[in-house]
Amino acid sequence: MDRRPAVIANWKMELSHKASVEAANAIRKLLKDVKLDMDVVLCPSFPALGAVQDVLHNHEKVQLGAQNIHWEEKGAWTGQVSVLQLTPFIHWCIVGHSESRALTGETDEQVQLKVQLLLKHGITPVICIGESLAERQADQTIERVTAQMHTLLDKATRTSLTKMVIVYEPIWAISAAGTGQTPEPDDVAGIMLLMRKLVAERFDNEAAQRVRLLYGGSVKPVNVTPFISEPGVDGVLVGAASLHPMDFVEIIKTVQQNAQ
Ligand code: PGA
Repeated sequence: MDRRPAVIANWKMELSHKASVEAANAIRKLLKDVKLDMDVVLCPSFPALGAVQDVLHNHEKVQLGAQNIHWEEKGAWTGQVSVLQLTPFIHWCIVGHSESRALTGETDEQVQLKVQLLLKHGITPVICIGESLAERQADQTIERVTAQMHTLLDKATRTSLTKMVIVYEPIWAISAAGTGQTPEPDDVAGIMLLMRKLVAERFDNEAAQRVRLLYGGSVKPVNVTPFISEPGVDGVLVGAASLHPMDFVEIIKTVQQNAQ
């Protein structure tokens, strides 16, 4: 079954307003003559969304996403941003990123509320799932991923599954986590198999083959090939390397070549 590849840039809080615009412009230019049949998404910080949207205007190759939303549509939530405030800008939104979870203590259930809100508003949720270093060391990876998938699948429908992207992102593999390690690509493939098996148990094999699964965690031009060569890995979520337009575009091209 053909699943559309996706490469998503998570710029975190790393770029100034000006640098976000420059990076988007550079990526736009570097992709000018590149033939793409995949989703490429930039997720800048909230204040840069409008300016990056202007840069991407009429550019069908690159879409815009946010890095988070609140789980309520509206209310007395100082400092938070609602999906309703973002719909004019974005088609994608990361939720459940471990850095947001760590900061706010949000639960898997709250992440699911966000997923439901995004789906309601026609925005593609990019849902991050993955184990911590302590969980990995305690051999609890499968348990943790299974628990997170169950919470997600409890609320999912067969149709909604085709409208989201799930990222297996082991927290310890994120470059900012500082372990300097990444999982073996065949371990990632094993987790993808587990995730598809859980989807098949909840729905059926067809649903399992349709859901898009990405890998995230220290993806760079030099290490992307083994990950995306694994069957079942449909793309990547990229943090640090996406801050460098040439690196990010190289990753995009590698994923595109691999999909052909
Ligand atoms: P990284 O970040 O590529 O810098 O590890 C990925 C992420 O946190 O989404």
